[in-house]
Amino acid sequence: MGSVRIESSKNYDVIIEKGILDSCGGIIKTTAGGEFVCVVTDDTVDALYGERCVSSLLSAGYRVEKFTIPHGEQSKNAAQFIRLLNFLAEKRFTRTDTVAALGGGVVGDLAGFAAACFTRGMKFVQIPTTLLAAVDSSVGGKTAIDLDTGKNLAGAFYQPEVVICDYATLDTLPDEIFTDGCAEVVKYGVIADAAFFEFLKQPVRENIEKVITRCVELKRDVVAADEFDNGIRFILNYGHTVGHAVEANSNFTISHGSGVAVGMCAEAKAAAKLGICSADCAEQIESLVRAYGLPTRSPYDARALTEKALSDKKRRGGTIGVVVPTAIGQCRVEKLPVDKLYDFIRAGIE
Ligand SMILES: NC(=O)c1ccc[n+]([C@@H]2O[C@H](COP(=O)([O-])OP(=O)(O)OC[C@H]3O[C@@H](n4cnc5c(N)ncnc54)[C@H](O)[C@@H]3O)[C@@H](O)[C@H]2O)c1
Repeated sequence: MGSVRIESSKNYDVIIEKGILDSCGGIIKTTAGGEFVCVVTDDTVDALYGERCVSSLLSAGYRVEKFTIPHGEQSKNAAQFIRLLNFLAEKRFTRTDTVAALGGGVVGDLAGFAAACFTRGMKFVQIPTTLLAAVDSSVGGKTAIDLDTGKNLAGAFYQPEVVICDYATLDTLPDEIFTDGCAEVVKYGVIADAAFFEFLKQPVRENIEKVITRCVELKRDVVAADEFDNGIRFILNYGHTVGHAVEANSNFTISHGSGVAVGMCAEAKAAAKLGICSADCAEQIESLVRAYGLPTRSPYDARALTEKALSDKKRRGGTIGVVVPTAIGQCRVEKLPVDKLYDFIRAGIE
């Protein structure tokens, strides 16, 4: 069993263990207490793991209700959020009760934001079932829903009581969703750990506990230094400036992981051309991304990408932040004047 302690406004453990889903009730009893749990999940995850989660909670003496959303990003919206708040109210949940998010990042973000808002803050627990949720979204306390005008525009920082990561659940993930999560895994190696980057040349699935544990440790360090995203936490956006622009240009038919993969390659190549990192560094990143079966080239030109990138949340007045590798395992934030972004992106994709 692996366990990583997160130190933030609330301290909590990320428990990483095969089969631990069947013990989630006891773990939640010890960490969150209370008597009543609302399991929030999506229809796909419910069919696979809902029953085991609920039965463990019942065995631990909890009363349990389940709230299910249709799977997919389109459920991370204001309508489902209000539906969930009304559900919690109708079932008479209180502040000492718990919302348990069983699923990927969509479920975690929606459930966490509802837990933060209902009665100004209930207990919250994350049970991630995608690679992305295990290595990224379940840790660090960012919760959100999408608005019609953009992704993650309403949300809160709200830390869980515990994260229960049963990596055996990843066995049922379709390959393309697993591969999508690998983009974020590669990201951690590039920005913070050269030895981990080397390690990732071996297949992730065969080393899943070690991979999740190292990613969570790296995220722990960033969150401990900047929980509320006013500084160093920005480095987690490596690949995301160009990546979000790729996703947005495709009307989100290109997945987040694929967008980030293209973005990491483009941002590294631009950095190499500007002399910020070596050409070899950019080539190594591209070669690892390719080895994971992720795309390395943008289907959109620099003009189209720049237009979408300029309406991104990462813009601050006249500048936009871009994370660039300085070497494998190291990076820094470049604050580009907005009128230099086009040249940067063009250098990255041509
Ligand atoms: N809060 C954060 O810090 C943070 C960080 C990164 C991403 N996010 C958010 O996370 C979301 C993406 O998360 P995601 O990639 O996990 O997507 P997701 O939650 O939509 O899950 C992807 C798909 O996999 C299915 N699924 C989940 N677990 C499964 C399993 N074990 N077996 C089979 N199918 C399973 C789901 O039903 C869904 O269809 C985005 O909304 C993004 O904004 C949040």
